[in-house]
Amino acid sequence: MSQNKILIVALLISSMLIFLTNYDLCSATEMVSTPITNCTMCHGDTGMSLFENIPHLAGQNKDYMIAELKAYRDKTRKDRRMNQITAKLTDLEIEQFATVFSRKKLKNLPRNPDPERDKKIKVGQALFDDMACTNCHTSNNGNAAISSWPNVAGQLSVYSSIQLKIFRDSIRGIMMPGLVADLTDDEIEAMSEYMESLK
Ligand code: HEC
Ligand code: HEC
Repeated sequence: MSQNKILIVALLISSMLIFLTNYDLCSATEMVSTPITNCTMCHGDTGMSLFENIPHLAGQNKDYMIAELKAYRDKTRKDRRMNQITAKLTDLEIEQFATVFSRKKLKNLPRNPDPERDKKIKVGQALFDDMACTNCHTSNNGNAAISSWPNVAGQLSVYSSIQLKIFRDSIRGIMMPGLVADLTDDEIEAMSEYMESLK
C-alpha cells in the first residue's frame, strides 16, 4: 500500500471511531431526560437535605442508592413521594443520580450546644456498640462495611429515627427488622442522635 492509501485508511478508521464514541454519548444523554432539580428541591444541590425528615444523599454509597431507587420504583420500599418520583426513571437515570450524589461530600452541620442531646448521644453510643451496629455501618473508616449497605454516620437523626421505627414495624428491609424489634422509641432516638454526631 502506498503511504497515501495508508493515510486515507487511518483517517477513515479514526473518523469512524469518533462517530461511534459521539453516537454513544448522544444516545446516553438522550435517555436521561429527568432533570436533577427533580431531586435537589428536596435533597439539596449539594446532596445535603433541606428537610429533617428527608435523608442527606451526599457521600451515600452508590450501590446502596441504586438498589433503594429500584426498590422505590418497584414499590417494595414504600414511600408515597419516592414511589411517585421514581415510577418512570430508567435504570440509566437511576445509576446517574446515584453516581452524582455519592460523589458529593457529607458535611456535619453546626448545631447549638445542648446538654440534653449530649446525654442522648452517650446512651445511643453505648447501645450502638453493644448491638454491633458498628460491624455493618461504620467499620470501614466510618463507612458501611460493604457498598450495598448504607452509611449512617452524619445522617439526620429525625430521618434515621423514622427508618428505625419503619424497620421495627417490619415494613422495610430484610436485615434490620429482626435487629431492632425490641427497641423503645427513646432508644431509637438516642441511637439516631449518636449516628448524626458521627463524622
Ligand atoms: C418531595 C421531596 C423529594 C424529592 C423531590 C426526592 N426525594 Fe428522595 N427521598 C425523599 C424522602 C421523604 C425520602 C425517605 C422516604 C422513606 O421513608 O423511605 C427519600 C429517600 C431517598 C433515597 C433513599 C436514601 C436512603 O438513605 O435510604 C434516595 C436514594 C433518594 N431519595 C433519591 C432521590 C432522587 C434520585 C430523586 C430525584 C429523582 C429524589 N430522591 C427526589 C424525598 C424526596
Ligand atoms: C448485618 C448488618 C447490619 C447490622 C448489624 C445493622 N444494620 Fe442497619 N442496615 C443494614 C442494611 C443492609 C440496611 C438497608 C436496609 C435493609 O436492606 O434492611 C440497613 C439500614 C439501616 C438504616 C437506614 C439507613 C437509610 O439510609 O435509610 C439505619 C438508620 C440503620 N440501618 C441503623 C442500624 C442500627 C442502629 C443498628 C444496630 C441496632 C444496625 N443498623 C445494625 C445492615 C445492618
